[in-house]
Amino acid sequence: MSSASLANPNLLPHSARVSIVGAGNVGSTLAQRIVEKNLADVVLLDVIAGRPQGIALDLQEAQAIERHDRHVLGTNDYADTAGSDVVVITAGIPRKPGMSRDDLMKTNARIVIEAAGQSIAYSPDAILIIVTNPLDVMTYLAWQATQLPPQRMMGMAGILDSARFQAFIAMELGVSIMEVTALVLGGHGDLMVPLPRYSTVNGVPVTELLSAETIDRLVDRTRNGGAEVVELIKTGGAYFAPASAACLMVEAILFDQSRLLPIATYLQGEYGLNDIFIGVPARLGCRGIESILELSLTETEQAALRVSADSVRKNIDSITTMLGDTPGSPT
Ligand code: NAI
Ligand code: 2OP
Repeated sequence: MSSASLANPNLLPHSARVSIVGAGNVGSTLAQRIVEKNLADVVLLDVIAGRPQGIALDLQEAQAIERHDRHVLGTNDYADTAGSDVVVITAGIPRKPGMSRDDLMKTNARIVIEAAGQSIAYSPDAILIIVTNPLDVMTYLAWQATQLPPQRMMGMAGILDSARFQAFIAMELGVSIMEVTALVLGGHGDLMVPLPRYSTVNGVPVTELLSAETIDRLVDRTRNGGAEVVELIKTGGAYFAPASAACLMVEAILFDQSRLLPIATYLQGEYGLNDIFIGVPARLGCRGIESILELSLTETEQAALRVSADSVRKNIDSITTMLGDTPGSPT
């Protein structure tokens, strides 16, 4: 891991460092997960004065009870994120009831472009994980803004969407979640592509265990997983499961686990798609995306992935026009 070079080096000991931009629900829960799992020291940054500092202090005060040695620094200054190994961007505004993910696009685009640029200016070797919605579009814009090698830029969504599908399968069958695997590809939106053929209970595809009608119902619930939580909470979106999903990615990178996970990854011809970030199975380790796995898809699955990608592409084009920029792939 790269060495830490904080503005005030006495604040944190040398160790793996993860910076989280956006100390809201997802960001602060992710900070908690990372330190309580003893993965890394955390720098938590937000635009609101006092908020990240207060959350950091609260987490430090829990340290004696949770029994870990990880430090959390709350800040409003990107200089304090210097030397980060991983930066996770959760800054933005969350979806409100009745609001589509795409409605968030313009505001969050400006926030994410600024956050990604500032983060890489202070941590040029970091791996970036984007969480802010609309996820696939924000990841593309962050990549354009930073010109990072695509292996070091990725978006979190597929792990969350797959975890939701897993949860619904386990609830339906009354089996332990430990037996269930599930896979969701595509963009993080209503057109995501849950793959029942690649979702199993202890190796048995769910297509052998559930009727087509039941699977369709669970697929729909997965596609609406984020909205279902928003409708219930009303004042914000999901954050426990999203933070868990982002934490899994951080862990895979810091511990060079080479895990095979659904990640919004830059495609250059894989799955017949080009110049787009979208959820596909990829191997994740300390250098970022190591490789992309091209599954054999049925015509229907491939068509669904294409429709999802077309929607992401349309949004990239429209936000790029709105921001007065030109889409393209940095070399
Ligand atoms: P939140 O509103 O609780 O937190 C957002 C934080 O970002 C706030 O503290 C805000 O002050 C901060 N922020 C705003 N502008 C900023 C800037 N320029 N620099 C630094 N910080 C800034 O929202 P929550 O629930 O934490 O969600 C954050 C984002 O993550 C939203 O866009 C949400 O839609 C998205 N999300 C994505 C998921 C995924 O699967 N990719 C899952 C869950 C949430
Ligand atoms: C979710 O899926 C809002 O994208 C967020 O919960």
